[in-house]
Amino acid sequence: MVRKLLHTGIIATAIIWISACSKDSEDELTTSPCNTDNMKYSTDILPIIQTNCYSCHGNGIVTNGIDLDGYTKLRIQADNGNLTGAISHAAGYTPMPYNAPKLSDCDINKIKSWIQNGAPDN
Ligand code: HEC
Repeated sequence: MVRKLLHTGIIATAIIWISACSKDSEDELTTSPCNTDNMKYSTDILPIIQTNCYSCHGNGIVTNGIDLDGYTKLRIQADNGNLTGAISHAAGYTPMPYNAPKLSDCDINKIKSWIQNGAPDN
């Protein structure tokens, strides 16, 4: 008897667990999770900048004196506030990427989080 109860308990737990799991994946489709913890320059930040900014500020292209190619140059714009100002479309900055849709909130938050952690070269 005790065994049977235990068994039912395990099955019930499994069903709850499985349904909770499938709900998670539904949520992911609508609101994809955005992890902004411990952002790394090399694997989190660089790909965003390469994809969205290098066409005008990287690979030897320096539009309006702004060069974001590599850590050292990006760090200058991170430290002086231009990077955050431009990507978050703050007043007084030309919105970036230029003449293109704003970065996703997730990408913006990743960059902000990285800067808040001291913009590490990691
Ligand atoms: C299609 C070309 C293009 C792309 C792509 C682009 N920029 Fe720019 N960027 C410009 C131009 C042009 C200016 C000068 C705009 C002005 O001041 O009128 C500029 C200026 C800037 C400035 C200085 C802004 C200011 O107000 O002082 C920053 C910072 C900047 N870009 C960062 C970025 C970042 C970060 C990205 C990617 C998310 C990006 N840019 C993508 C063309 C581009």
